[in-house]
Amino acid sequence: MATPTRPERDTVMHSWCKQSDWNAPTVVGGSGAWLHIEDGRRILDMSSLAESNHLGHQHPRLVAAIREQAEKLCFVTAAWGAAPRARLAELLLERSGFHDGRVFFSLGGADANENAIKFARQASAKPRGWVITRDRSYHGASYAAMALSGDSRTRTQVDPQAMRVDHALPPYSYRCPFGTSTAEECAQAAAAHVGELIDAHADEGVAAVLMEPNAGTNGIVAPPAYWPALRRVTREKDAFLIADEVMSGFGRCGEWFAWQRYGEEGRPDLMTLAKGLTGAHLPLGAVVVSGGISRILEPQMLFTGLTYCGHPLSCAAGVAALETYADEQLIERSRRLGASMFAELQRMQQRHAVIGDVRGGEGLFAVIELVSDRDTRAALSPWPDMHSSVKALLADAMAHGVSFAARGNLILLAPPLVIGETELADALSLLDRLLARLN
Ligand SMILES: Cc1ncc(COP(=O)(O)O)c(C=O)c1O
Repeated sequence: MATPTRPERDTVMHSWCKQSDWNAPTVVGGSGAWLHIEDGRRILDMSSLAESNHLGHQHPRLVAAIREQAEKLCFVTAAWGAAPRARLAELLLERSGFHDGRVFFSLGGADANENAIKFARQASAKPRGWVITRDRSYHGASYAAMALSGDSRTRTQVDPQAMRVDHALPPYSYRCPFGTSTAEECAQAAAAHVGELIDAHADEGVAAVLMEPNAGTNGIVAPPAYWPALRRVTREKDAFLIADEVMSGFGRCGEWFAWQRYGEEGRPDLMTLAKGLTGAHLPLGAVVVSGGISRILEPQMLFTGLTYCGHPLSCAAGVAALETYADEQLIERSRRLGASMFAELQRMQQRHAVIGDVRGGEGLFAVIELVSDRDTRAALSPWPDMHSSVKALLADAMAHGVSFAARGNLILLAPPLVIGETELADALSLLDRLLARLN
């Protein structure tokens, strides 16, 4: 490929930033948890590039699978069969235990969520039924996905009520909106509140409740009691429960899918996937629907589609990704390293008053919430602003060769599941030294 003659910042529109601020280095390759930069530097990636590169960068098995498929068949639409698509669906149904269910393939997380809502409305025979999601959630940045999201960045761009979406208060136990004093009570109150919202829309009907079962970019990690309580409420009130596993799936939270932590009792009716589905080696999303929903939809027309639904190249990457998670025992590895990372973060919390809360840790995902006063839990800066000291910490870390992700007062740790134990320990020790400056 010919090298570009103009700098990228002059020709490309970049997401989630002011265009005039964008000035990122160019990545030319990668291996394991490392990104290789054009100027010869290597940067340790502690966020898996938007929590998606679970398998690290340029995993050889993924690269080989993509190359092999490209030589056979790059593309056919969903009007034709494609072996990698069928194999990936079969593997997903096996791994999730949705044995008699089906899989709809999309291109990423936002369109997976939009299609999940379509299927839930169609299968519940409530074509304009309400959908309950929650504040401090993220489900994507297309229009319907923005309505589903409870995200300060996109709040003003769309009217959720006009799209029949209502937002519940979050199970944010560190600052519980229900004023409870324990995580368990906060979880129960938040789930009961979802039940009240379902009742409030009873006349027009609620088709589905869509929630992230664990990890989320808005920094909420629901207490363990939340998901089972939510499942009970949605079952009692006859609303489908959709697990948005786009970020929490594929080992990120110590299970193939985060809801599996709660066993069969926690099984949702639908779940949406992306990111770790191919370890971000190619774009792909999916909606997995239960056997019950498949049977309802089976004789009906599905008025939906994307030209690249179930793209053979992406599906071949998905098959290789699922095989790699299993063969390299990465789900178990994430659970083990996640627990030790969490323990280390808790030790840091003892040392640094700036750390108000540490949550997550079921797998290689954790959130540190920074405060200006630990006793009063006063935020370091008002949400969603980022304090200048956090910006400085990120820049210092980068100068030391480590890339951390942060949102507002939150540092989100989500390294690739293949990260070396010493690499992880070194990154945490750097974070410890940098946090000491914030005290
Ligand atoms: C939980 C969750 N859902 C949906 C999305 C949207 O996925 P995509 O960016 O592939 O549209 C994201 C992306 O960060 C996510 O974290």
